[in-house]
Amino acid sequence: MKWKIVENYEELSAEAARLVAMQVKKKPDSVLGLATGSTPVGMYKELARMYRVENLDFSRITTFNLDEYVGLSVDHPQSYHVFMQEHFFRHVNLLPEHTHIPSGDASDLATECTRYEQAIKAAGGIDVQILGIGGNGHIGFNEPGSAADSRTRVVQLAQRTIEDNARFFSSIEEVPTAAVSMGIQTILEARKIVLLASGESKAEAVHRMLEGEPTAEVPASLLQQHPDVVVIMDRSAASRLS
Ligand code: F6R
Repeated sequence: MKWKIVENYEELSAEAARLVAMQVKKKPDSVLGLATGSTPVGMYKELARMYRVENLDFSRITTFNLDEYVGLSVDHPQSYHVFMQEHFFRHVNLLPEHTHIPSGDASDLATECTRYEQAIKAAGGIDVQILGIGGNGHIGFNEPGSAADSRTRVVQLAQRTIEDNARFFSSIEEVPTAAVSMGIQTILEARKIVLLASGESKAEAVHRMLEGEPTAEVPASLLQQHPDVVVIMDRSAASRLS
């Protein structure tokens, strides 16, 4: 795995946006895998600026998000559907029919998971997958213990994830306890992976991802088997690297 340490969150966001923009220009019909959470917000803001000011064109781009909470409707304020609209989709010229997020309130979630995997395949697979990392080393909502060959499925959220994500809800009781998430295998099939990590709370997970043995207990460490991963992190996230 390659990695790059930058000074701060602004530089991390700019570097991540630069990599995505390069891909969009090189292959205007690219398929991008997208993440939610706090970490990619600055990258989305910079990509929106590039669209406005530099005419970066998303009109032929297709996107697939990593995950969605089970039980939240697409218009729930904390759903990842709303998150993506707010932070990215409504600011650029992506076509709504080219954006994909798993449905967390489908009546048959197993069928929804299969449908999502098939949609990724039908689009030709993911060219560049953007990832954040959980404080417990999760990627997507693949919590510790997730199998390396897992695919899109319903997962139970770890207690740490529920606590970490409570900041987005009015109380911890409101945080869903399950999600639909792309699997580790789905993520590993992306042609290129860009993982972003910012802040001290990610330092231990980053250390175990890059310097530990690959283990399902730290799902991000399973990325070591992928031939083209770049980790972009700020100094605090890198603070426990030897
Ligand atoms: C989001 C996702 C999660 C987050 C991770 C970090 O779609 O799949 O893996 O990337 O929980 O979240 P933040 O960036 O909020 O620290």
